[in-house]
Amino acid sequence: MMRTALPRRLFLALLFAAGAWVGVASEVPLDENLVALFADLHVTADANNPHQRAGVAQSVRDVLACNPRPANVLFFGDLSFSHGATNDYRLLKKLVKPLEDAGIRWSACLGNHDRRAAYLSVFPERTGEPPLGPERLVTVVKTPHADFILLDSCLEGPVNGGIDEAQRAWLQATLSRYGKPVFVGAHHPIRETGVAGLMASNAVCAAYIFGHNHVWKQQKEEGVETLCLPSTGHWGDIGYVLVTLSGEGAVFTLHQRDYYAPRPAAKPEDINPAWLQRTRKNDGSQWRVPFKR
Ligand SMILES: [Fe+2]
Repeated sequence: MMRTALPRRLFLALLFAAGAWVGVASEVPLDENLVALFADLHVTADANNPHQRAGVAQSVRDVLACNPRPANVLFFGDLSFSHGATNDYRLLKKLVKPLEDAGIRWSACLGNHDRRAAYLSVFPERTGEPPLGPERLVTVVKTPHADFILLDSCLEGPVNGGIDEAQRAWLQATLSRYGKPVFVGAHHPIRETGVAGLMASNAVCAAYIFGHNHVWKQQKEEGVETLCLPSTGHWGDIGYVLVTLSGEGAVFTLHQRDYYAPRPAAKPEDINPAWLQRTRKNDGSQWRVPFKR
């Protein structure tokens, strides 16, 4: 009996130790100073459009492969394929589950292809910051060195976007109280949300971030630095952006894995060489935003 009992105890002890080690090794830390930015997800279960959901899934895998991992992921609108179908949001819920399982928080603003009622039917807990409520799904994401305000520029139909007076008044009041750097963003460009005047006159406003155009591009508009994000998989520049924040400022790094328009080539030999060239040129590009003191 002794000859079998001791090895068994030893075996169990080794098994426990191995399990504990694996548990520790698999717990990749979250970094509150890292934020991943996704835009124009356009997810759909449509069999003829597999690349949008594949793009989101790949970006999620890329985020999970980081060590440390970003504590927050922000979605800059057009979560749905074309008109806010409830099934699109149900699919999105499955696609973001690996982030949630890893303890990574995600926040979203809506784009012209989204619809609030369908989105809230799948994500009823995401009703936005008070006091604006479910008609304007505004979110404030806090990090140690800088925050992100996600505006709701969805007009439920038109391609263009905008914000109403209640949202503008809320933003003005919120920014007037801010004592740390803040990025303001929405799905639509700043000329459509019309917040450049508010931002340019407030030193805490670091930059404006948006999607909609599916292109990695920085420019100064009406006195405000702006960044347009790639799409995770619909068309245009394809990938995501990782932001590293410190007391000095923010570094935005583009992780671009593809470019296609209007959709990926059916066969590798059909890929436009200019698409490959653009992807190689863009991937790894950085944009730096110093914080004002
Ligand atoms: Fe889009």
